Amino acid sequence: MKVSPRSAGIVGLGTYLPAERLTNADLEKIIDTSDEWIRSRTGISERRRVASDEAASDMGVKSALKALESAGIKPEEVDLIIVPTITPDMVFPSTSSIVQDKIGAINAAAFDISAGCTGFIYALSTANQFVASGAYDTVLVVATEAMTRFLNWEDRNTCVLFGDGSGAAVIRPVDEGEGFLSFVLGSDGSGSDLLKIPAGGSRTPATDKTLTNKEHFIQMSGNEVFRFAVKIMGEAAINALDKAGLTKEDVDFLVPHQANTRIIEAAAKRLGLPQEKVFINLDKYGNMSSASIPVALEEATNKGLLKKGDLIVLVGFGAGLTWGASVMRWLM
Ligand code: UT7
Repeated sequence: MKVSPRSAGIVGLGTYLPAERLTNADLEKIIDTSDEWIRSRTGISERRRVASDEAASDMGVKSALKALESAGIKPEEVDLIIVPTITPDMVFPSTSSIVQDKIGAINAAAFDISAGCTGFIYALSTANQFVASGAYDTVLVVATEAMTRFLNWEDRNTCVLFGDGSGAAVIRPVDEGEGFLSFVLGSDGSGSDLLKIPAGGSRTPATDKTLTNKEHFIQMSGNEVFRFAVKIMGEAAINALDKAGLTKEDVDFLVPHQANTRIIEAAAKRLGLPQEKVFINLDKYGNMSSASIPVALEEATNKGLLKKGDLIVLVGFGAGLTWGASVMRWLM
């Protein structure tokens, strides 16, 4: 979709990462794995874990308040809060409503988006529509994921991959030619079995059996998801550039979903980007699902890697299966 008629962009960012660090050496003590395997197959060295009394909304509140502060916006000025998450506090009410209450955004509407690890890009695209149409002036996107709450610590195929964290962004009207230039969103539900939490929904409600079988935890066919990701990341990024009337030569920086270094390298290769134009921080945090990209965006900005006026490409994939990409002229 092309961005019109009013331009919108990210004018503030905030992140929160739980204090507890879980290293690969810690995981070696609880499961048959090795630091060498995890680092060479994924690029991950450590990840964060929420405290026992901490939920997705608690992290979201912290990142949201920091994002508002960085944009110089008061909570009462927020028109809409969108929370992309696959690890909500509860099935319902929405985590966004809980965040709305806790930050005092008394004038905001609120809803969640479930689009797996692509959630942040789906939410940005939705925020952009509200601002571009003139319906709202200030949208707060709060990606927040307590992935470790849904990990089976006996399943080495999944438990080494994920981590917890939150990243929030404030979306406001901006000058034409700045902010979001294009979005690409996609879904292939034929892959819905490849990455899921099978029980706890209306298909398979909680029973003693689902608990015993550990069906309330993440299950994944890693290799198939990997092959899908390698194909779709480059494709989605190129399509988003095409929609913005730009080419891969125009790209200053790629900020991809942080799932696996090998997947990111394949996307970078497709775009012909050297290592120094690709941001990677999954070594420190693992895969934080929808929170990966906003945390990466803030870190890259703070490190001075993203500069005002740079052409940035975001790209991600995730459960659904879903994918998404966005091209933007960076404002911060
Ligand atoms: O954001 C979306 C979320 N999903 C993803 O990002 C996942 C995408 N997939 C991947 O990143 C990769 O497929 C993985 C990192 C999950 C796995 O890498 P792989 O190269 O696809 O390995 P594999 O699944 O083919 O497994 C290779 C071997 C297997 O042993 P055998 O059967 O060859 O003897 C696994 O049992 O590695 C074994 N293995 C492990 N060994 C040590 C799997 N997990 C582990 C582990 N430690 N944690």
